[in-house]
Amino acid sequence: MSGEKIYLYPVYIRLWHLMNAILCLILIITGISMQFSNPKYPLIRFDLAVSVHNIVGILMAVSYLLFIIGNIFTGNGRYYRIPRKGFVKELMMQFSYYTRGIFLKEKAPFQINKERKFNPLQLFTYVWTMYFFVPVIIISGISMMYPDIFIPSKFLGISALHLTDLIHVVAGFAISLFMFIHVYFCTIGITPLSTFKSMINGFHETHD
Ligand code: HEM
Repeated sequence: MSGEKIYLYPVYIRLWHLMNAILCLILIITGISMQFSNPKYPLIRFDLAVSVHNIVGILMAVSYLLFIIGNIFTGNGRYYRIPRKGFVKELMMQFSYYTRGIFLKEKAPFQINKERKFNPLQLFTYVWTMYFFVPVIIISGISMMYPDIFIPSKFLGISALHLTDLIHVVAGFAISLFMFIHVYFCTIGITPLSTFKSMINGFHETHD
């Protein structure tokens, strides 16, 4: 049963998110193809995968910049602030709801409204992804596009290029894992599709 509809997703967030999701999917597919490439049977021809990955990576960096500018200059940035007190307890409450309460048809511990757009677990994963892993993947990716400018030959006695590559791959793995879990959790709305609809029309539907 649906209750109120709250406008939570401004147009710029919806456009950024759609573009970001498509670009991330292309980056994951071309990234995996390069990582496990076998010259005889490539998923995507290696040189083609590199070119597409580089161009789409730059587009993703530009779209990330728009997300950050939007979050700074609109009210949306305030939803990404982790409370200084009691956040671990809030995380545990949300975790307990997802692993137990939800199956007992209990009420969610945190109601989504204009003041709180994300539940604590969403907040935690969105902040880590958008303010740590995405910047790390962009900086390491751009560095590897211009290694002569950004990457020294050695760092603590090991190849700095290999180290940057390792950081890039680990961040890519973390973002892919996030995306998988994120999409699954988006199905836990008042209906399995209601959260996806929110990202199309901007309105979050609440239980009454
Ligand atoms: C096919 C891929 C994806 C789908 C179907 C999807 C779906 C959704 C949906 C339905 C929402 C609204 C619910 C909510 O606020 O939690 C959302 C929000 C969000 N998603 Fe995704 N997502 C995808 C990929 C991604 C990726 C790759 C990222 C980041 C790298 C991402 C980051 C976010 C963020 C930060 C929000 C909150 C935006 C805001 O309101 O400020 N999503 N996503």
